[in-house]
Amino acid sequence: MKKYTKEQIKKLSYTDFISLIKEENRPSGGKKTIREIAINSFINENSNVLEIGCTNGFSSLEINKITKCNVIGIDINKYSIENANEKIKLNCLDENKIKFEYGNAEDLSRFEDNTFDLIICGNAISFINDKGKAFNELIRVLKPNGFISVVPIWYKENPNMNIINKVNEELGFKIKCYYEKDWMNFYDKNLELYYKKDYHFIYCTKDQIKEYVNTMIESKEHLKIYNTEEINVIKERWNNTVSVFNDNLSMTNYSIILLRKNMCEEEMEIFLTEE
Ligand SMILES: C[S@@+](CC[C@H](N)C(=O)[O-])C[C@H]1O[C@@H](n2cnc3c(N)ncnc32)[C@H](O)[C@@H]1O
Repeated sequence: MKKYTKEQIKKLSYTDFISLIKEENRPSGGKKTIREIAINSFINENSNVLEIGCTNGFSSLEINKITKCNVIGIDINKYSIENANEKIKLNCLDENKIKFEYGNAEDLSRFEDNTFDLIICGNAISFINDKGKAFNELIRVLKPNGFISVVPIWYKENPNMNIINKVNEELGFKIKCYYEKDWMNFYDKNLELYYKKDYHFIYCTKDQIKEYVNTMIESKEHLKIYNTEEINVIKERWNNTVSVFNDNLSMTNYSIILLRKNMCEEEMEIFLTEE
């Protein structure tokens, strides 16, 4: 593993920094979200699952643990892919059923049409440059009547731009502020909105963040090659990132969405129901 200087640590891109500290990079809602996706997409040990933007592998590992499905996670960050592959053995999972590969959602040409029962996209959907191109590819490789899950974060109202500017600084690019209606209008006419549930984030105090950062960074064996001063730089950067994200998330909600690949048009429904 490459060892960085203090100056290099400060300047790493967001995704390279996440790879350095090997943060889980969970989708919003973590395991609860993966459970909800697995249950509502009806996948089992024979199902083929693709994860787009898998980062360090959290969602793919978790869905394989609970269903034993076949899963491939792809990401454009090669360090994340290395981290994710390391975790297969660490979690005692079957290497024949789970793998991580470098790959771009905008070009899935290595996969045949109609290959996957479920495609997990998490919040990676917000990070993909050409969403239209990526979605065409996702639909192509998805089996008829298969599901795409997305877990987008959206602003409840016009956000505070001071916070948005700080998020942009952290990420190293300008985020686009999506609202709930953007996600509802986004989907291709061949995709049916099959399931949607909305959640909000619980705001963390400064002390909670400090304790989390200390415990998390100190628990990472691979960071033991860094001296106290360097560890403090890592902690300071992570504390800053988490604090900015905490403020940003307080202005948002997220949704767990499942879209189904419809093969023929369905008659319109009247007499809808509610719980
Ligand atoms: C916020 S993280 C996703 C975290 C978590 N896996 C989730 O689903 O919410 C976004 C990830 O998407 C990856 N990514 C961005 N554009 C991509 C693309 N075109 N194809 C595949 N991965 C991409 C990034 O490298 C990063 O690891």
